[in-house]
Amino acid sequence: MSQKVLFLEKAKGAFVVANAPILKPGPGQISIKVISAALNPADWKIQAFDVFIQKYPTILGTDIAGDVEEIGEGVENFAKGDKVFCQGYFVSEMAGFQQYTLIPADIVGKIPSNIDYAQAASIPLGFTTSAVGIMSAHGLALNPSFDSNVSFSGKPVFVFGGSTSVGQSAIQIFRFLGFSTIITYASARHTDFLKSLGATHVIDRTEVSVDNLAEVVKKIANAPIENAFNAVADDSSRTACFDSLAEGGKLADVDPQAKDRGDGKKVFTIFGSVHSPQNREFGRILWNNLPRMVQDGTIVPNRVEKLPNGLAGIDDGLKKMRANQVSGVKLIAFPQETVQ
Ligand SMILES: NC(=O)c1ccc[n+]([C@@H]2O[C@H](COP(=O)([O-])OP(=O)(O)OC[C@H]3O[C@@H](n4cnc5c(N)ncnc54)[C@H](OP(=O)(O)O)[C@@H]3O)[C@@H](O)[C@H]2O)c1
Repeated sequence: MSQKVLFLEKAKGAFVVANAPILKPGPGQISIKVISAALNPADWKIQAFDVFIQKYPTILGTDIAGDVEEIGEGVENFAKGDKVFCQGYFVSEMAGFQQYTLIPADIVGKIPSNIDYAQAASIPLGFTTSAVGIMSAHGLALNPSFDSNVSFSGKPVFVFGGSTSVGQSAIQIFRFLGFSTIITYASARHTDFLKSLGATHVIDRTEVSVDNLAEVVKKIANAPIENAFNAVADDSSRTACFDSLAEGGKLADVDPQAKDRGDGKKVFTIFGSVHSPQNREFGRILWNNLPRMVQDGTIVPNRVEKLPNGLAGIDDGLKKMRANQVSGVKLIAFPQETVQ
C-alpha cells in the first residue's frame, strides 16, 4: 500500500509530493490516517538552515490530528477509527506531512468532542513547548505533575510574544497555574483574544518599544516577577525579559541558544518535544491531562486558517510564515486532499 507524502528532498532542498509506502505500527505504536497537520516555524527553519534532521529525503510536520488506522502489539487504550491528536517528530515515519504516520500510543490523546481535526492539530507543539518550559523539571518546574491544586495566586508573570502559538499556550498555562497578573507583549489587535485566554494586561508592541518594555512591565506587576516566558527567539526580547525579572528570577525561552547573562537570573532553554528522552515521562503525564483540559476549556485551540491543495499547499504556507505574514493564527494542511 502506498500513500502521498511531502518530501524535503535534501538539506536546504525543495519540497516535493511523492509516493511512499504506508508503514505498519510496531509494538506500542499506532498508525494514524492524518486528516490535519499544522505548520510551524520549525518546518521552514529546517528547510532554510538544515537543523534537527539526520537523514534526507525527510518528511516534516510536528502537529497531527486524524483517525487511528491500525494498532500495534500491546496497545490497549485505542481502537481503529478513534479520533486522535499528537505531536510528530523529526523522523519521517513519525511526521505529519504525509497521509499516514506512526506514533507511540502513550503520547497520543483522543480529540475532545468540542473541537474539530484542524483545531486539534493546532495544539500539540505550542502546548508542549510552553508546558515543558513552564511546568516540567527541565523548565521553570512550576508543576511537573499537572496538579490542579498548585496555585501561584497573588504572583505576577510576564510572557513576551503572547500572540505566537507558543505564547497563547503559555498564557493559558499561567492561568491554569493561578497567576493573578499575566502580562504579555503583543500587537494591540490581539488584545481581546489574549485577554480571553487569561492575559490580564496586553502591552502594545507598536506603542512600547522593546527598550522601554521592562519598566512598563515592572510598573504593571507592582510586585517582584519571579518567572517569565519568552516566545520570541531573539536577543532583544530576552533582554527585556531578564530586565523585567526580579533578582534570582527564572526565564523559560524558546531559543535553544539562549544563555544566562551572569547576574543570577537563570534561563531555561526549551526542547518542546515529548519524543525526546528527557521529556518522555513528562510527555506521558501531559497527554494524560491535555484532552481533559481542552474538553473543559482550560486550554483552547488556536484560531486556524485552512490551506488548499493538500500536501502541495504546505510550501506556500511555510513561505508566508517565513515572510512574517501569519498573525495570530495557525496554518493547517489536509494531507488526504492531495490530488497530484
Ligand atoms: N524551542 C522549541 O522547542 C520551540 C518549539 C516551538 C516553537 N519554537 C520557536 O518559538 C517561536 C514562536 O513559535 P510559534 O509557532 O509560536 O510562532 P508563530 O505563532 O508563528 O508566531 C507568529 C506571531 O509572532 C508574533 N511576533 C513576531 N515577532 C514578535 C515580536 N518581536 N514581539 C511580539 N510578537 C511577535 C507575531 O505577532 P503580530 O501578530 O503582532 O505580527 C505573530 O502573531 C519561533 O521562533 C519558533 O521557532 C521553539
